[in-house]
Formats: sequence, structure tokens, C-alpha cells
Amino acid sequence: MAKKTVFVCDVCGHESYKWLGKCPACKGWDTMKEFKVEKEEIHSSIAPVFMTDEELAEERIILGIDEMDRVLGGGLTKGSSILLGGDPGIGKTTLCFEIASRMDELGFPVLYVSGEESLRQLASRKKRLALKGNLPVLTTNHIDDIIKAVTEKNYHLVIVDSIQSIYNSSLPMLPGSISQMKDVSSRLIRTMKNQETTHIFIGHVTKEGAIAGPKILEHLVDTVLYFEGDKMLPYRMLRTIKNRFGPVDEVGIFQMRREGLISVENPSEFFVSERGDIGSGSSLFPYITGSRPIILEVQAITPKTSFSMPRRLSLGYDINRLFILIAVIEKALNAPFLDRDVYINVTGGMKVNEPAIDLAIAASVISSHRDKPIGKNTALFGEIGLTGEIRKIVHAEMRLKECERLGIKRVLCPAGVEHGAGIEIIPLRNVKELYNYLV
Ligand SMILES: Nc1ncnc2c1ncn2[C@@H]1O[C@H](COP(=O)(O)OP(=O)(O)OP(=O)(O)O)[C@@H](O)[C@H]1O
Ligand SMILES: [Mg+2]
Repeated sequence: MAKKTVFVCDVCGHESYKWLGKCPACKGWDTMKEFKVEKEEIHSSIAPVFMTDEELAEERIILGIDEMDRVLGGGLTKGSSILLGGDPGIGKTTLCFEIASRMDELGFPVLYVSGEESLRQLASRKKRLALKGNLPVLTTNHIDDIIKAVTEKNYHLVIVDSIQSIYNSSLPMLPGSISQMKDVSSRLIRTMKNQETTHIFIGHVTKEGAIAGPKILEHLVDTVLYFEGDKMLPYRMLRTIKNRFGPVDEVGIFQMRREGLISVENPSEFFVSERGDIGSGSSLFPYITGSRPIILEVQAITPKTSFSMPRRLSLGYDINRLFILIAVIEKALNAPFLDRDVYINVTGGMKVNEPAIDLAIAASVISSHRDKPIGKNTALFGEIGLTGEIRKIVHAEMRLKECERLGIKRVLCPAGVEHGAGIEIIPLRNVKELYNYLV
């Protein structure tokens, strides 16, 4: 097969047909590495075909791991290519082991390729997780071993843990480098797509820019999932970043236990269950992720500042939106936060980018500032505009239903929202009305 030469930056993946001392994209010196790529053979026999619904309908397998099925958009699609990224130690291997074991139980041939753990380690993990069945495992770091194994037997699912640990020994670059990953992943994807083998690649994400590793693969695969969470807390979130077979804003929630990952069926209860009698600065917000609502708690404190410039910090809410919101509240209420720090926390480690949370944030800030508790049985949702007006948002009905299910008695929301008898609706038109209600 004919080969052509390209030069690929080992840091950012920028490609060039000639060698350059300095990468034009990331400005790194001496980062361009030579890379031989095989030119694709032209298949002259390939011709256009008509798509018929019966022949080309997508085949899905429901794994029975509810939260995983949810983020995949309703099960594992046959022949799809999935990238699972996440911080070290977050539980990627655990999750994939459980998926592999489920597929094995369902009677599909599965191969688990591990480039990171020895057979002994994997066996003890299997024992700890109490997984049934006899899962075939291949411990290797060489791409050729994997290609050989997957072409010899037609597996339904192949898991590669991790893509950074697999390399092509005929390339001069170190395993884990961008060039290695590009070569390895494109060969694996091509081989397995041809055979219609579903494949999951595990990719590491580190804080020091190594995120570029899995990022570069994102356009090659069908689905990108990120496994997130605070390692100190027992729950983990599986977020869809890209999905060619389903919606992208789904979040799966798991609880990490010694015996493995457990799907959390009622995340609202899970997130607000620790709330006892609440004080000022705390409010409830019905958040919509993908196709389901989750009630979250929004907390704020506004202590007197000891800095020349007051501090604004936010966990789970966009900091720039917080700056705007504080300015809007200040203008509407004539209550300067000039000598006040503002700290916001959305509990449970959720990152909310829905504008509907604005009202709950504003309520928590005012409640903390004026030391007026909002109350355990009250929730809020609505977007706040620059003139302090409270704007309508989508999925109001779904949010209200979830509030009702959790026993919330009162909901403050934009005017015009209606609901049955179970909940008292308090319509608000602007921030001033919110203030008058709270104080
Ligand atoms: N013996 C154990 N008892 C309880 N929990 C354990 C035990 N061993 C591992 N865990 C849990 O599993 C987590 C590690 O999971 P896992 O190995 O699946 O993560 P990973 O994302 O694959 O990590 P890596 O990036 O190192 O490959 C640990 O953070 C810990 O919470
Ligand atoms: Mg692992």
C-alpha cells in the first residue's frame, strides 16, 4: 500500500505536509513529528445504493444499566463507536467492566482489551464487582494484537482500556502521543466499523491540557461520553457531549460503591435528601437534563468582604452570568453588593447552563443577604433579563410535575405558567416582585 508523509504536532495535533520548526497552531518548538500514513486503496467496485428501511434500520441493545441506556439515547447501537473520557480514577474501567459483563450475560461475544491492568488486577476487580460470566480479556499495548484478535473472531462489542495505552511500534513516537493516538484510533475504528463491531474507547482526561488527547478523537467517533464527579463524593455523572444516535444533553447518575456502580433512579431525591431544616441562602431549582427533571439545591452566601474588590465565586453556575445577575439585582433593588462577597454553589457537583436557574440564584443571593429563609417547600425557576424582568422558559410543566412529586408546595416562576391544584403558583414579573415576596 502506498504511503504518504505528513508531519503532526505532538502537542496539539496540527498537521502539515512539510516539516516546521515551530507549530503554527500551538506555537510549540520542535513538536512536529514525521508520520507515514497509508493511502486508502480505491475500491472501484463501490457504487451508490438505495437505502431501504428494513435493511438499514439501526439495531440497539438495551443493556439494562438504566443510566447508561439513557445517555446512549436508548441502548447500545450496533457498530457504533463510543469514546468514554474522564479523570483518572473516576470509574471508567468499572463502568466498562459492567457493560462488558452485561453484554456477555445477554449472550453477545465481547472482548475487553486492557493496556493498563494485568490479568490478576482485572480478575480481582471482577471478583470485587461480583460479575458473572467468563469475559475474554486481552492484555496488550500493541495495535496489531488487537486488530488480529478482532478480525479473527466477530465480536459484538470490543472495549479498549485505554486508547492512550495502545501504540503502533512502527511509529517512532511515544505511546500516548497525539500521533500515536490518531494512528491507532483511526485504524481500530476503520476495522471495527467494517465489521459492524460496537467499540468503546476509554480516554484519559487530565487537567494539564492532556484533554487534547481524547478531544482529538471526538470527531472520529459517533458518541462522546464524559464521566465526571467529585472523587470525594459517592456519585458520578455520565454526560453526553456528542451523540449521533440520541440527544446530547442527557446525564446519567450513578452511585459508586465498593461492589460497583449503581444507577440512581430518582436523582431529585438523591440530591435534596440531605436537606434538613434549611436556613437562608438556599433554594430549590427543577433542572431539566435531556429528557428528565432533577431538583437541585442552589446555595449562596454573601459575607462582608475583606478585600478591596469583593469576590464572586461560583460552583456549577456560569461566573459571567453571576456578574450580570448581581448587577441586575443591584439596579433593581438599590441594594449594593459593593462590600459583599458572593459565593454560589449548586450542590451535588452539577454544572447548570440553563438560564432557568437565574431565579433560584437571585433568590438565594437575596435570601442570604437579607437573612430570610425561602423555605423547604418552595422551588423557583425562570430566566432573568437585563432589565430585571423574569422571562418564560421551556418545559415548565415537566418541572412543576417533578416539584409536585417531591412534595414541594409552592413554586415561584414567570407569569403565565399554569398547573393543577397540587401546587401553589406564585407568578413573578420582575426581580422587585421576587424581593417583595422574600423579604
Ligand atoms: N477495593 C475497593 N473498594 C472500594 N472501592 C474501590 C475499590 N477499588 C476501587 N474502588 C473505587 O473504584 C474507583 C476506581 O475505579 P476505576 O479503576 O474504574 O477508575 P478508572 O477511571 O478506570 O481509573 P484509571 O484512570 O486509573 O484507569 C476508585 O476511585 C474507588 O472509588
Ligand atoms: Mg481504568
